[in-house]
Amino acid sequence: MPHPTDIPPRSRPRPLLLDAFCCQGGAAAGYAAAGFDVVGVDISPQPRYPYHFIQAEAVAFIREHGAAFDFIHASPPCQAYSDAQRLHGNAHPDLIAPTRAALESTGRPWVIENVGGAAAELHKPALLCGAMYGLETYRHRYFETSGWTLTPPAHPAHLVPQAKMGRPIPPGHYGQFVGNFSGVAHARRVLGVPWMNRDGIRECIPPAYTRAIGAQYLTQTWAEAAA
Ligand SMILES: C[S@@+](CC[C@H](N)C(=O)[O-])C[C@H]1O[C@@H](n2cnc3c(N)ncnc32)[C@H](O)[C@@H]1O
Repeated sequence: MPHPTDIPPRSRPRPLLLDAFCCQGGAAAGYAAAGFDVVGVDISPQPRYPYHFIQAEAVAFIREHGAAFDFIHASPPCQAYSDAQRLHGNAHPDLIAPTRAALESTGRPWVIENVGGAAAELHKPALLCGAMYGLETYRHRYFETSGWTLTPPAHPAHLVPQAKMGRPIPPGHYGQFVGNFSGVAHARRVLGVPWMNRDGIRECIPPAYTRAIGAQYLTQTWAEAAA
C-alpha cells in the first residue's frame, strides 16, 4: 500500500501531475516537456518509466491521493475495448467509469485517454492524430476532459497509406505499432519514445499529444489566473 510520503515534494513553480495507468511513460514525457513534474502509478513494475514511479492500483490511488496533485491524466487499459480481444472472447474489466468517478471525487482537473473502440464510453472526447503533429503514424487517441476546453488542431487528410496492423512497413507507408509489431527502432523514432521496448510502444500515447494537451491546459489556467 503506497503511503502519501511516497509522493515527491513539489518543485514549484512546476505543477505536479499524476499519470495514472502510466506504463512506460509516453503520456508522461509529453506532460514533462509541457512543464509538469510527473508522478506515475501503475499496477505493474515499470523499470523503464523515466519519472518518479509508484506501484499501485490506480483507481484506489486516485481516490486516496489524487487531490494532492494539480492535474491528473488517466489511461485505463484499453483491452476491454479492443476488437481483437472481443473476437477472442477475452473479458477485461471496464475501468473508464470507475476511473472517472475517482477523478471527479478529487475535485482536480483531469483528462481520460483511450482508443477508438472506447470513444463511445468517453464524454465529448477530442480526437488527436499523429498527422496533426507531423508524426509518420496516425495512432488516433481520444481525450475526455473534466470540463476545461481541449481544442485539437485541424485534422489533416490521411494521404499516406498505412501498413497492415503490426506488419513490416512497405516504402511510402506509415506503420501501425500494435501487437507483436516489427521494427522497434523505427517505432521509437516515429513516436518519440527512445527509452521504450515493444511492450511500452504498443500501449503508448505519443508524447507530442500530451505535450500539446499540457501546454493548452497551462495556457488556459495562467490566462484565467491573470484575468
Ligand atoms: C494503455 S497503458 C498506458 C499507456 C501510457 N499512458 C503511455 O502513454 O505510455 C495501460 C497501463 O495500465 C496498467 N494497469 C492496468 N490495470 C491497472 C490498474 N487497475 N491500476 C493501475 N495500473 C493498471 C497496465 O499495467 C498498463 O501499463
